[in-house]
Amino acid sequence: MSSVAAPEPRPVRFGILGCATIARKMARAMLLAPGVAVAAVGSRSEEKARLFATDNGLPAAGLRLHGTYEALLDDPDVDAVYIPLPTSLHVRWATAAAARGKHLLLEKPTALCAADLDAILATCDAAGVQFMDSTMWMHHPRTAKMRDLINGKDAMGDIKVINSVFSFRGNEDFLQNDIRVKPDLDALGALGDVGWYCIRAILWAVDYELPKTVIALRYPVKNQAGVLLDCGATLYWADGKTATFNCSFLTNLTMDITLIGTNGTLHVTDFVIPYQEKSAEFSLASKSEELDNGWDPLPNKHVVMTDLPQEALMVQEFARLLQNIRDSGSKPEGKWPAITRKTQVVLDAVKASIDKGSEPVEVVN
Ligand SMILES: *[C@@H]1O[C@H](CO)[C@@H](O)[C@H](O)[C@H]1NC(C)=O
Ligand SMILES: *[C@@H]1O[C@H](CO)[C@@H](O)[C@H](O)[C@H]1NC(C)=O
Ligand SMILES: *[C@@H]1O[C@H](CO)[C@@H](O)[C@H](O)[C@H]1NC(C)=O
Repeated sequence: MSSVAAPEPRPVRFGILGCATIARKMARAMLLAPGVAVAAVGSRSEEKARLFATDNGLPAAGLRLHGTYEALLDDPDVDAVYIPLPTSLHVRWATAAAARGKHLLLEKPTALCAADLDAILATCDAAGVQFMDSTMWMHHPRTAKMRDLINGKDAMGDIKVINSVFSFRGNEDFLQNDIRVKPDLDALGALGDVGWYCIRAILWAVDYELPKTVIALRYPVKNQAGVLLDCGATLYWADGKTATFNCSFLTNLTMDITLIGTNGTLHVTDFVIPYQEKSAEFSLASKSEELDNGWDPLPNKHVVMTDLPQEALMVQEFARLLQNIRDSGSKPEGKWPAITRKTQVVLDAVKASIDKGSEPVEVVN
């Protein structure tokens, strides 16, 4: 009996809806990821779509350029759309995409509030399409490696304290003009843009167990339009675990996660975007003793290699799920919308606490 190699599955055909800066990185990811093709670009004019395609080296053969978002959504040869539009436009365009049967890879923050996200997820559910938010670091093999160490228990023990910081210092132009500081476009400001990652990191660390209560840090900084530039919160679980995060457009570039368990402490200092594309590190101090002149053993440096950048791994994983749905009749993977929703629910609670001058707010699922 001779074995016949299974044919390569048909590639998943992506449409890119909107030509935001982040879409450039994603266009490259789609070119790198196996099993994926960029089929169409939709922008507010065909000229802008064309410019985006040439700037990003998208092969012209078979590529369709659409001068409206509707035209891209009506394109029957698009299986999935990637939406990098400003957050205030997500409900409208994400529901429109899902209602037309397009699978959905949505930029974060996914919505202005959990109720808006629920409208998007309900449409995806009804249409039987896959939903995933575009949180790239979730797909880095380093993340899986850290997960294994946490789950193994012995190295970390029970995690009790979590800290996460994501900040970068925006220049004057950014602080005046960027989409992310405009109340009508991205009203959640730094909380939505960078805080999203910290909240996701915290939930990831506790295997997505929602905290009971959140209390915003005092003295959040807002711009004149009331958009958050710098804020944070402490999250409390019923069993005594706590997590604190800071997110900011005002302080130096920082991407930290610290996990402190009963047996060990884990540090990552570049969790959102690794320092380098092909390898990433974290350090773990496990069961170290304090000596007169140092620690024993010293923290262990773990290095994790990857051939593809994390954003290409994300696109590849998304495409794999779509192929399962298309070719094997699988159901959409429920894990991704579930963790998006938890992130958004915690974000809502932090926002509510900020709005109430740092009063405690219960997290309601
Ligand atoms: C911590 O490590 C010890 C071994 O040194 C192990 O017996 C114990 O189960 C670990 N703690 C947890 C919570 O897993
Ligand atoms: C987080 O913010 C609080 C209050 O704004 C500040 O006191 C603290 O130093 C910050 N921590 C980090 C790690 O940035
Ligand atoms: C800002 O952060 C970078 C990267 O973490 C660091 O190398 C640099 O020294 C920091 N700059 C200042 C002024 O602290």
